[in-house]
Amino acid sequence: MAIREILKMGDPRLLRVAKKVTDVGTPEIEALIADMFDTMHAANGAGLAAPQIGVDLQLVIFGFKQNTRYPDAPQIPETVLINPTITPLADEADEAWEGCLSVPGLRGLVPRWSKVRYEGIDQFGQAISREVDAFHARVVQHECDHLQGVLYPMRMTDLSTLGYVEVLFPDLDAGDDE
Ligand code: NI
Repeated sequence: MAIREILKMGDPRLLRVAKKVTDVGTPEIEALIADMFDTMHAANGAGLAAPQIGVDLQLVIFGFKQNTRYPDAPQIPETVLINPTITPLADEADEAWEGCLSVPGLRGLVPRWSKVRYEGIDQFGQAISREVDAFHARVVQHECDHLQGVLYPMRMTDLSTLGYVEVLFPDLDAGDDE
C-alpha cells in the first residue's frame, strides 16, 4: 500500500473517458483500491477517482465518518464503486460548495442533482444499487464525473463563486491538505 501522487487540473490524464474495469478481484485491482484509500485518507478527501492518480479505469472510492474538509457533512459509508452509472431522481439541481483534491485550495458552487440512484459493482464483484440524496449524492456525482474527464469547475454555472478556501471559509481548518 502506498500514497500516490494526485494529478492536478491541467494534466490531460484528468480529461480522459476512463475504461471499464474487467478484472475485479485481481491483486492489481486490490492493490489499486488499497493505494486509493491510503491516498484519500492522507489528503483528508471525501472521495477519489482512479484517474486522479493517473489510472485510466472506472473506479471510484468515497466515504468518511467525519471529514475535516467538510466538517458539516453527514457521514457516508466507505464505498468502492466500479463501472458506475448514475440516474437522476430529482427534477432540479441544488447548488453547494465543492472542492477537489485535483484542484487544490479552491472551492466553487456547483449544481448537482439533489437525489440520484447509483449502480455498479464493489471490490468483491457484488452489485451496488443505492438511492441517495444531499451530500452523498453530490460526492458520487463529483467522483463519477472524474471518470468522464469532467472536473467540477466545468460544471459551474457562475464562475464568480470560484474562490480560495482560506478566503471563502477562513474558519475552516483545512490544514495543508488542499
Ligand atoms: Ni475531485
